[in-house]
Amino acid sequence: MTDRVTLFEMGPRDGLQNETVQIATADKIALVDLLSACGFTKIEVTSFVSPRWVPQMANATEVLAGITRAPGVSYAALTPNLRGFDGALAAKADEVAIFASASEGFSRANINCSIDESLARFAPVAQAARDADLPLRGYVSCVTDCPYDGPTDPAQVLRVAQALIDLGAYEVSLGDTIGAATPETTKRLLDRLLDHIPATRLAGHFHDTGGRALDNIAASLDRGLRTFDAAIGGLGGCPYAPGAKGNVATEAVTAMLADRGFDTGLDPQALDRARAFAQNLRSPR
Ligand code: HMG
Ligand code: MG
Repeated sequence: MTDRVTLFEMGPRDGLQNETVQIATADKIALVDLLSACGFTKIEVTSFVSPRWVPQMANATEVLAGITRAPGVSYAALTPNLRGFDGALAAKADEVAIFASASEGFSRANINCSIDESLARFAPVAQAARDADLPLRGYVSCVTDCPYDGPTDPAQVLRVAQALIDLGAYEVSLGDTIGAATPETTKRLLDRLLDHIPATRLAGHFHDTGGRALDNIAASLDRGLRTFDAAIGGLGGCPYAPGAKGNVATEAVTAMLADRGFDTGLDPQALDRARAFAQNLRSPR
């Protein structure tokens, strides 16, 4: 294992998608440009989803068109179906992501279909990504707890994660969608997954509702994971997981990793500029 950890910046997508006041396209572009100066290699910029479901992401094409692309940064977009994939391809996303759930309740609430239906829907997206030579990432939501179905069986996470890998995902991001995971449930999950999937193909995606996200990242580091999703300023929440807070804050993860001797390649001063800007974009709560 190296001492290098990759932080996949989620602020512009997971961070902003739940904001109720429509954020100006220019502000979204400015946020991505500030993040591009921080040293990230991966930034999730937006999602090509139904604007009726997530109005905040309606200007995905304009945002991707307006950003200044820094060399070495992969600008990613969520694509739930072929229509979304076509939009992301036309807007020159560098990689795309499909997103499934380990629980049936959240699958229905988030993408309006069962888990198996979603996997069937992702197959042509994965094929299109292969044809276009675009890297494909996968998410599994509700990996330890679901707001509708309660605790999640790790075997169910394994089934869905393996299916995403079989579809061609280079990495599966494990979503603690409602921020209810603990180091204990995180370890139990990883112990099940790591018998079948190498740590290099897994990422941690912890929301911080319960204030345990950093502890869960520490538990995941102990199990060999080296990629984590985080949002600048701790922005966000999921529109289909009521009450869930944002992703763990990028700056907090960066500081924790530095303390533990891991290198993220991120510039703390540039991060602070992006954090200040991001926090000013939030709707009043
Ligand atoms: P549906 O209603 O079942 O599908 O939605 P549909 O095909 O019947 O389409 C409904 C409407 O959406 C139609 O428009 C389509 O044209 C349109 P209408 O005729 O009603 O005007 N439509 C689209 N428009 C733009 N782009 C598209 C697209 N597809 C259809 N790609 C669908 C199914 C998946 C589209 C919908 O449920 C959806 O968009 N869901 C997105 C939910 C979402 O974005 N959630 C947040 C992201 S996931 C997340 O945050 C979790 C994560 O962070 C990990 C974690 O924390 O766990 C990743
Ligand atoms: Mg999320």
